[in-house]
Formats: sequence, structure tokens, C-alpha cells
Amino acid sequence: MKNRIEGRSNKSANRPFGDVLSRYLSRRDVLRGGLQSAAAAFFASSPGRSLAARKPGAKARPGLMDFTPLPVAGGGGKVPRIAPDYQMQVLIPWGEPINPSTGPAFRWPPTAADQEKQVGIGHDGMWFFPLEGSDRGVLVLNHEYGMSRHILGRDPQSLDDVRVSQHAHGITIVELAKRDGRWQHVDSRYARRIHVNTPVEFSGPAAGSPLLRNPAGNPFAGTLNNCSNGHTPWGTYLTCEENIHFYFGGEGFTPNARQERYGLSARWTSFHGWSRFDPRFDLTNPDYVNESNRFGWVVEIDPMAPSAPPVKRTALGRFRHEGCAIAVGRDDRVVGYMGDDEGFEYIYKFVSDRSWKALRDEGLSPLDHGRLYAARFDDDGTGEWLELTIDDPRLAEEFAEQAEVLMFARRAADIVGATPMDRPEWTTVGPDEHVYCSLTNNSRRRDTNAANPLAPNRHGHIIRWRDDDHHVGTRFQWEIFLIAEETHGTEESLSSPDGLWADPDGRLFIQTDGSGQADGLNDQMLVADTDSGEVKRLFEGVPGCEVTGIAVTPDRRTMFINVQHPGNGDPAETSFPLEFDGVTIPRDATIAIMRKDGGIVGS
Ligand code: FEO
Ligand code: CA
Ligand code: CA
Repeated sequence: MKNRIEGRSNKSANRPFGDVLSRYLSRRDVLRGGLQSAAAAFFASSPGRSLAARKPGAKARPGLMDFTPLPVAGGGGKVPRIAPDYQMQVLIPWGEPINPSTGPAFRWPPTAADQEKQVGIGHDGMWFFPLEGSDRGVLVLNHEYGMSRHILGRDPQSLDDVRVSQHAHGITIVELAKRDGRWQHVDSRYARRIHVNTPVEFSGPAAGSPLLRNPAGNPFAGTLNNCSNGHTPWGTYLTCEENIHFYFGGEGFTPNARQERYGLSARWTSFHGWSRFDPRFDLTNPDYVNESNRFGWVVEIDPMAPSAPPVKRTALGRFRHEGCAIAVGRDDRVVGYMGDDEGFEYIYKFVSDRSWKALRDEGLSPLDHGRLYAARFDDDGTGEWLELTIDDPRLAEEFAEQAEVLMFARRAADIVGATPMDRPEWTTVGPDEHVYCSLTNNSRRRDTNAANPLAPNRHGHIIRWRDDDHHVGTRFQWEIFLIAEETHGTEESLSSPDGLWADPDGRLFIQTDGSGQADGLNDQMLVADTDSGEVKRLFEGVPGCEVTGIAVTPDRRTMFINVQHPGNGDPAETSFPLEFDGVTIPRDATIAIMRKDGGIVGS
């Protein structure tokens, strides 16, 4: 979602990443020929010079991304644009029934009962699980966000209104089939909605913690603000709970230090308005004193087991999870890279203790048995993964057990000295073991070097690193891959990188979420060569939207992406996807993208 209300929950004294970066860039600049400051060099923006790894003007490897890009000219229109070598198709807008032949059909505003059987709002991270090669499969899709004013036309006035909003959030599972070259949404035994009232389970080291129990004795239920995602080698989907604080509130609530560290505040009482009618979300209700601890986790869903409850994997820590990019590291250990999206928050990784195959053979989840780390980026281009463990005496001083360390991972990362970053969003792992993370922007960052273009960092950048020992080591080497502001005024223009996906050939797909793209553009998706750094525009969304979510068929001939909150719900901004079914209010939708000649998407 567009985080227009930027907060700063991190009051720790850890040195902001921008400070580290400016020193790193300065050192690099000295090596490159002795300009006085990296920032001066940046603003001078002499052609052919970049402070990032990518080389402006360098061309992509032949054959990698030969498509004709969408030009800047013509951008900013009310309907989506796609590069001329490509075609696109709108699918599963908000409100479409998950089983198309049995309904209920979209009506506005929806009822709570109907919305529970319809595609949710705020389409975000997703993944495609094949049933028949690349022609039929199950799409699992997150619904991050939707304001009641958009869903209902008003703030909630009753518990029933809250239920409509609750049922519009969560997860949708639908089946898609390609027939005669066109994708269709078809009825399915896998079709399913998961929302904040769906029974869920907890697993891992914090599952039995008293900090997850309420005096009310209410069972575990639900997932919310499902942002980005991951998927495992054993065929399950990971959905990541991000801005959970927006859903809690309560007049007169005063947070304790740990709650404050997670952004919980009376300030959000009317943001979604749930706490006014649903006591679970009322932070002042002593019967539900620990309800908020149940959110902010990575949640595993088996798309092929429609009756299996989602499982919250506590070993991966609790914070504002953006996504969880999975790699298989040395000895088949499973590794998850995760961003915590708020200004001055951290990047984390989870490493399973042993081979994921061995653990599963023993009936154990690889995501329940492992170590959690937070990243420290050092000035010299190296870094260290700092383990968050109760065996660390600094953490044992503040926390009673590992369950608490995981539940308040942000605080644990403060203590071990992780590096505060400029809003870590998506992570993705490239074929050469580089891990990419979008640092979307951070207008609150202040730096003593006034000339430093990244303080404030209005347009964001992308960092990449490579861990020692095939993903499982605790040291890494890092560099900046791209500084968004360097692209402005060129055909590569982009701001606020957010969604990322690295394909096996070395392309990096970059999606944006910035209320103001430069050069008159709407939010968009571009493709970069991870070697040369050349960037080409593949897709442009509509006013007010963000472009987010990436899933591909196994043959990579189809890519699914999402247009989230088109026009912010305002038909005066855009009526997308009016052409799809004649509904005039703008609705979130998925777009299937294919090359006209049937080639790999991105080529
Ligand atoms: Fe859900 Fe940080 O975007
Ligand atoms: Ca995002
Ligand atoms: Ca964002």
C-alpha cells in the first residue's frame, strides 16, 4: 500500500543506513578519482557516472530484454499501457466470485456474506501453483489493503460493516486455465477465501507463548494486511503480514514500549474503524490484551489442501513483514530473506537448521527449526548477519525466552545493532546468489551531509548482497544496484521501487509504488539487466494505483501482476478496469502479460 502516513517506530540509536551509505559512497568516490563528496558527484550527474553498480548507458546482454520499451512520452494516462511486443488481459477484479459459475456476482457495496465468496480488494503478492504445466494452475493472491470508504462507501457503522471490510482482506485462491491463448478464471475445488476470521494455527518456538493467549480464550483466527509473499520448494505459499497496526485502536489507549515499537496507537482507531465494533481489535479491552501479538507473522498456506488451516511460522519473527524470498542454500537448508517496511527498519533472514528435505522426512516443518538474523551493513561494502537468540546475553537481559525474542524481533534487532534502512520492501534472489532488496524511499531520513541526495531519500534505491557459504553464512558483500533518482529525465525513469522478482536468466523485474513517479508517469513495472543495469519499461498502470505482485507460469510465457487501488477508488481518476466488465468504479485487478510471439516475459 502507499504508506502516506510515514511513521518512525525505531527510536534506537543504531546508525541510520544513509550515514553508512554516504561514507561508503564517499570511499568509493575517492577510489574513482577523488571528487570531494559522493553526493556532489551524484548531483553533478555527469553522463556515464553512477554511484550504483549499474552503468548508465550500458546495454543489456543480447537476447535478454530485446523488447521495445514503453516510452516516457504518452505516460500518465487513465488506462494501462504495455510495451508494443506484449499483450495483456485483465483477470479476477475485486468482487468477482471465486467460483465464477456459482456467484455471488459483484454488487456494490458488497455484503459480508457475499464478500466472503468473492475476490478480495488490494491485490498484492501472489504465486502460481501449476496443475497442468503452464496452462492450468492455482493462483494464490494476497489482499493487502482497502479502505472502508472504498469498499462500503462509508466508515464502518456496525459490526456487519466491519465484517465486510474484514472479508475483503486476506487471501484469495482461484483456478486459472489458458484456452486458445487466453486465460480464464474457472470453477475449482481449490477456490477458497481466507480472512481475519478464518481459523489459523501457530507453530514454531513462540507457538505456546502466553503472550499469544487472551483472557477471552478466543481461538487463533485470521491473517491481515497481507502484503508480499514467498513460496517454498515443497509447494506451499507464504503470505506476509505487514501494516497490522492500522487495524487496531481504542480511544484512550496508551501503548507500552513494546507496543509502541510496533506502531500500535490510539491514533489508528478510525483508520479502518474495526476496534469500534470488534473487541478483538480494541487495544483497551483487557479480554483481548494479546490479540495484536497474533499478527505480524509469516503465514504458510497449502494451496492444494483447501481444508488445511494457515500456519503462522513464528521462527521467522514478528515485524511488518513485506515478503519472504526463499532460497535453498548449502546442504539444502532453506533460507528466507525478509524486509520490514517502515523507515529505519531492518532486513532479516531465516536459515533452517538442516536440510529442508530431511526435516520434512521427519514430519517437521523447515520453517519451524532455524535461526533468525538481522543485517548490519558496514561502511566497507561488507556486512554481517546478527543472530537474534536468547543465548546472546544482551538479549537475555531484556527477554525471558526465545519466544519473546521472536515476537519482538524489532527490539531484539535494535539491541544487537542491526542497520536501520530506508523502508525495506521486497526481496528476491537472483541466479548468481545475489539477493536484491528494494528500499522504497525515506523522506524522514536526515543526514548531516546536506548534499547527500539520499537524505531525504525521496525516490528510493535497490541494494544487493551475496552471502558467504551459499546463503547460509553470516558475512556478506553488498553494493547499491540502482538509485532511482539517477534515472529521472531518462527513458529509464522510475521512483519508489517496491515489488521485485529476479528471474533465472538474470532479469530483475521492478514494480513501483510512489505517489509521484517522475516524468509524468503512473506507477509501473520495468525490467533491468542485473549485469549492465539497463532498465526498460514493460507496463504502466493507471492514476492512483500501485503496481505490485508477480507470479509466473513455469514456462515464464505468462506473468501475472496486479494493479492495486486504481484511482484510490475515485472514478474521476480512472475507471479501470471498466473495459473488462462495464463496472464504472475502479477496482483492483490482476493482469496477465504475454509476449505476442509467445516468448519468455521480459525478453
Ligand atoms: Fe505492502 Fe510495504 O508494501
Ligand atoms: Ca509493497
Ligand atoms: Ca510500498
